[in-house]
Amino acid sequence: MTTYMNLQLIKESKKSSEKDHTDHFLNDVLTGLQSTPKHLSSKYFYDKTGDELFQKIMAMPEYYLTRCELDIFKNKTSEIAKGIRADQEPFDLIELGAGDAMKSTYLLKHLSEIGTDFTYMPIDISGNILSVLEKNLKRQLPAIDIELLEGEYFEMLEKAMTLSSRRKVILFLGGNIGNMSRKEAEKFCIALYQLLNKEDIVLIGFDLKKNPYTVLNAYSDKSGITAAFNLNLLSRINRELDGNFNIADFQHYESYDPITGACKSFLISLRDQKVNIAGQLISFEENEVIDMEVSQKFSRSEIRKLAEKTGFRITGEIADSKDWFIDSIWKVS
Ligand SMILES: C[S@@+](CC[C@H](N)C(=O)[O-])C[C@H]1O[C@@H](n2cnc3c(N)ncnc32)[C@H](O)[C@@H]1O
Repeated sequence: MTTYMNLQLIKESKKSSEKDHTDHFLNDVLTGLQSTPKHLSSKYFYDKTGDELFQKIMAMPEYYLTRCELDIFKNKTSEIAKGIRADQEPFDLIELGAGDAMKSTYLLKHLSEIGTDFTYMPIDISGNILSVLEKNLKRQLPAIDIELLEGEYFEMLEKAMTLSSRRKVILFLGGNIGNMSRKEAEKFCIALYQLLNKEDIVLIGFDLKKNPYTVLNAYSDKSGITAAFNLNLLSRINRELDGNFNIADFQHYESYDPITGACKSFLISLRDQKVNIAGQLISFEENEVIDMEVSQKFSRSEIRKLAEKTGFRITGEIADSKDWFIDSIWKVS
């Protein structure tokens, strides 16, 4: 009887958290599409189809970011381990927006081989990709201590802080920080600094400014996978929020400004049209755009300024062999 009641409680709490998620999603979508200019949050790209499309993006020849950071995690693993370990003390290794953890798995393997005591806590808003990650890790590194945290970065970080009082090492890879505007990135780093304790470490991936064509091609591949990834958010709105976007009436457009380092994705409305989302009508003019995502590129001095402005001290920098991408190690001091 007690077990049955517990099961009912778990089911009800799951239902209410799914409802909260849908309410947030709807509210963000309507607010974004009723603003000028229209915008959508790229954190909603990642449903099951979005996760699969992102895995295809990572394998594209044009998308150099994953290969560069993989070069670091495969070939400079012991340098990373040296940068994040302190006095052999046990720690929690928390990865923000872990995705399938393909790159960090090399670090996890190395840490366990050298006998480090740590718990791996991947945080991701996509429950689907966390189950892919769990399946892969159980197969590759069954002995690792792992705690999956499904939800938003800070909500789950706060939860992680309550789970143990061990030193924290935060991984924020793949240029995820680039998916924030400069102001948002600053606010994010300040909030992170305030949450962490002295001696905690953050390892952040930054995509460096480089030949503008190399950057632009990475986000506007000829095979159309990036376009499908952006358009999938409209399909997701149709599926989950009772929308009626006609996907063929929108087109992906990418731009890169080599001075600011902002690479931006848009969807263009190809005609005057009205779209119904959960009973609300949204009007689009022909050629009006939806701002979908920024992928910010940095110079080394911009990275230094960001760390200094938000209270962190840079203690290391590991670059790939082409010097296109760096993992910067920051300490709370
Ligand atoms: C661009 S992918 C990168 C994945 C991985 N870090 C890598 O380097 O391969 C971004 C990941 O972050 C997750 N994500 C995006 N915004 C998030 C948020 N606000 N809170 C938690 N996870 C988020 C997505 O679900 C996705 O798995």
